Amino acid sequence: MYFGKILYGGDYNPEQWLAYPEILKKDIEYMKVAQINLVSIGIFSWAMLEPEEGTYDFSWLEERIETLYQNGISVFLATPSGGKPRWMAEKYPEICRVDENRVRELYGGRHNHCYTSPVYREKVRKIDQELAKSFDHHPGVLAWHISNELGGECHCPLCQEAFRKWLKEKYQTIEQLNQCWNTAFWSHTYRSFDEVESPSPKGEQSIHGLNLDWRRFVTDQTVDFVKEEIRAIRDAGGTKPATINMMYHYKGLNYHKFADVIDFVSWDNYPLWHKRPEAEIALDCGMQHDIMRSIKKEPFVLMESCPSSTNWQSVSKLKKPGLLNAASMQAVAHGSDSVLYFQIRQSRGGSEKFHGAVIDHYGGNDTRVFREITELGADLLELDEVAASNVKAKAAVIFDWENWWAMEDAQGPRNNGLYYKETVKKCYRALRRYGLDVDIVDMEQSIEEYQIVAAPMVYLFRCGFEEKVRSFVEQGGILVMTYWSGVVDDTDLCYLGGTPHGLLDVLGIRMEEIDGLYDFEENEGIPVPGNELGLEKKYQAKHLCELVELRGAHVLMTYGKDFYAGKPILTQNSYGKGTAYYVAADMETAFYEDTFRSILEKQGIEPLLPGVKLPEGVGVSSRETDNAKFLFLQNFSGGDVKVPLPENAEILQGSKDGILKNLETVIVKV
Ligand code: GLA
Ligand code: ZN
Repeated sequence: MYFGKILYGGDYNPEQWLAYPEILKKDIEYMKVAQINLVSIGIFSWAMLEPEEGTYDFSWLEERIETLYQNGISVFLATPSGGKPRWMAEKYPEICRVDENRVRELYGGRHNHCYTSPVYREKVRKIDQELAKSFDHHPGVLAWHISNELGGECHCPLCQEAFRKWLKEKYQTIEQLNQCWNTAFWSHTYRSFDEVESPSPKGEQSIHGLNLDWRRFVTDQTVDFVKEEIRAIRDAGGTKPATINMMYHYKGLNYHKFADVIDFVSWDNYPLWHKRPEAEIALDCGMQHDIMRSIKKEPFVLMESCPSSTNWQSVSKLKKPGLLNAASMQAVAHGSDSVLYFQIRQSRGGSEKFHGAVIDHYGGNDTRVFREITELGADLLELDEVAASNVKAKAAVIFDWENWWAMEDAQGPRNNGLYYKETVKKCYRALRRYGLDVDIVDMEQSIEEYQIVAAPMVYLFRCGFEEKVRSFVEQGGILVMTYWSGVVDDTDLCYLGGTPHGLLDVLGIRMEEIDGLYDFEENEGIPVPGNELGLEKKYQAKHLCELVELRGAHVLMTYGKDFYAGKPILTQNSYGKGTAYYVAADMETAFYEDTFRSILEKQGIEPLLPGVKLPEGVGVSSRETDNAKFLFLQNFSGGDVKVPLPENAEILQGSKDGILKNLETVIVKV
């Protein structure tokens, strides 16, 4: 996506302030002071845009878009489908959701329409078309902000019907469905598709294939809803690009399925800064940015973030001075072409009246928060040449929504904690600590462009994944796969004949058994003397320990305790031109860091800053165009550190003396 600059601004809700013309004026004045160049408008404005069914009043919106434009501020124009007007629910109660206990909601809240309802879809289509006809051509409108943070599920009769249709298309016959879901278990055989109901705590929950397909259906139905919104805009002649704003680690929707529907990815970032050490939170945020960027493998938009504290987290913690800048720059460093806030002006009433904003209830621009926002605005202004540059990572970690759903739904080796995200993060952290950019891809995306791929806990193999992995290693790729991989197929049926399915020869091992450890238990990995990676330390293992049988792999480390002491815990196997490592247990962070470092050094994979061992809490990332490469160095360590910069680098931002102060960002062009 190319906007030609870094976008700076955020959600703006003038509809709450129409009775205060002097405030609307002040908004523009202050936005200009802060160098704000974009706002998202109309997100929850439906009742103001269509006060009665079929009666549209866009005059206030038109005035705002035009005034903003005259003042150099563009807009992302939202479709209002995230919050429905009261009249609509009164007249058409079927647009309100039914929960998993089959209870229909009353009018209220937001983000809670039935995404199947033809009435709702029709109302959305109409207003989207009116908006597109009125505003798409406006030079101030940069893009469409479709709905808001789509999520949740509806179990109403319309959704049940749509689910049955979806299943019929997928399985064709009920016999096929029964096979794939293994419904002979507990005598739950279906005689026809009409007997299928969505999972419910009051009914069917024990068929994992059903649970998995329901989640897939919810994603598909939501994707279809978004498609229809975008189609409405296009049918009305609208040509501006469209996005949806995604959420942090949101399990409810497989965001990858939106990749081909939207023109660019955007997301809302609300980390719990200061709850844990900054370095840890920064790593977690970095990983989310990378997940979002990797959905399209293109620059993305940070659609929302909070300039001070939110009001919905358990404790509303202010950001300490300097953190806003560091957190915002981190988004840019990982591929964002924007820094956007929720919100420009703090509401006077309602459930977000104490949520941080650019302009607070005091209303002046002489506040600490506003000052930091203004300083950041000035910094971002200098980064226009960075906009649209992309990240070209050599390394990838697999993180897959369907795998996440299936693994956590299965009653298996550890029902009180599998630590999927944590294991993904350990791999991610190790690659980042070595100094590489990292993509985070799902099992459907290509992996052939990477030099190293980590595949932690890939329990469910999406269709054809084992072949993709095989050819990756065959062609010279380095694979690091962990325990609890290749266990079920994509209908959630256990593979027969040995796991990790289809890769016994690639990995040179077979998983025989898996031991779940109590929280108080631990094991350890002991390096084999003279092992090829030069590993010398012992590392702790917890939670899950697999017993693997060797089928050609070399052993690099073995278990130190229990009846399986001496059995392999880390193996290496050559296959084709590549190498496949297998980690058999849930190892501590330091294990991943040291092991990945050895592997990467041995394979001669160059980090972004060759020869530099990054201090803990210091990150490096890069973005590039055909002609230029930008390096971002960031310090979340809590103290000042020394990091040598590449010779002949042009410093675009930050100090030039090689000292990186806490929370500082240095940006160089190489
Ligand atoms: C979400 C929503 C916004 C607002 C913020 C508050 O991201 O999209 O409308 O509610 O949270 O943090
Ligand atoms: Zn429904």
